[in-house]
Amino acid sequence: MMQRPSPSARSPVPDKDPRVVAIDGPAGAGKSTLARLVAGHLGLKWLDTGAMYRAVAYCALVKGIDPGDAPAVAKLARELVLEMGEQPKVDGVDVAEAIRAPQVDAVVSTVAANPEVRAEMVARQQAWVKEHGGGVVEGRDIGTVVLPDAQLKIYLTASADQRARRRALENARHDLPAVARALALRDRLDSTRAASPLPAPQDVAADAVVVDSTDRDATEVLEEVLTWL
Ligand code: DC
Repeated sequence: MMQRPSPSARSPVPDKDPRVVAIDGPAGAGKSTLARLVAGHLGLKWLDTGAMYRAVAYCALVKGIDPGDAPAVAKLARELVLEMGEQPKVDGVDVAEAIRAPQVDAVVSTVAANPEVRAEMVARQQAWVKEHGGGVVEGRDIGTVVLPDAQLKIYLTASADQRARRRALENARHDLPAVARALALRDRLDSTRAASPLPAPQDVAADAVVVDSTDRDATEVLEEVLTWL
């Protein structure tokens, strides 16, 4: 089910960058899959900004820094040598798998709520888009804070049950109730923090298209999205 904004809100305006697509939404909504598909169709690169917050959280754990120690984590974020690509790397080492560990899940919302960490990550994300001449960027604050001039802004969501099922499948975890509880906690932290919280679907920016992927697979969502470009 899709809620389209009014045509005037969706029409591209001259100062919008046609090579930038923003995808926001809660965990497990299918943002990464959709972002990859849209990027493939448009011949653009794709950036998973959640992986960047995860990389900071992972490094804090590895270095024994308390994720709640805001100044120490902010310093770590500024100094982090992070390469964002298909496989994110820290100091040249592939961390794609390590950043998906349950230990990282448990602390990443705290790290992402740190305003200084956010400022650093937002600057890096904006630089990434400049360097790549556009891109498909997914996260929580992309259409609102990181790339407010994106040509297309999608807010992708799905029911909490469906999102928990997808996350459990992705991570090959069979304890669905535990995955659902962790996801619900993260949703709550991400949407109630002071710095750039994830809005509820009814509160998204007027120029974003809300897409509910509960009963649709990625290909069906992609087909619809391509008609808006
Ligand atoms: O998309 P994800 O579940 O991998 O994101 C990991 C965490 O980072 C999650 O707690 C939300 C946060 N995040 C954020 O605050 N802003 C973004 N642009 C992307 C992710």
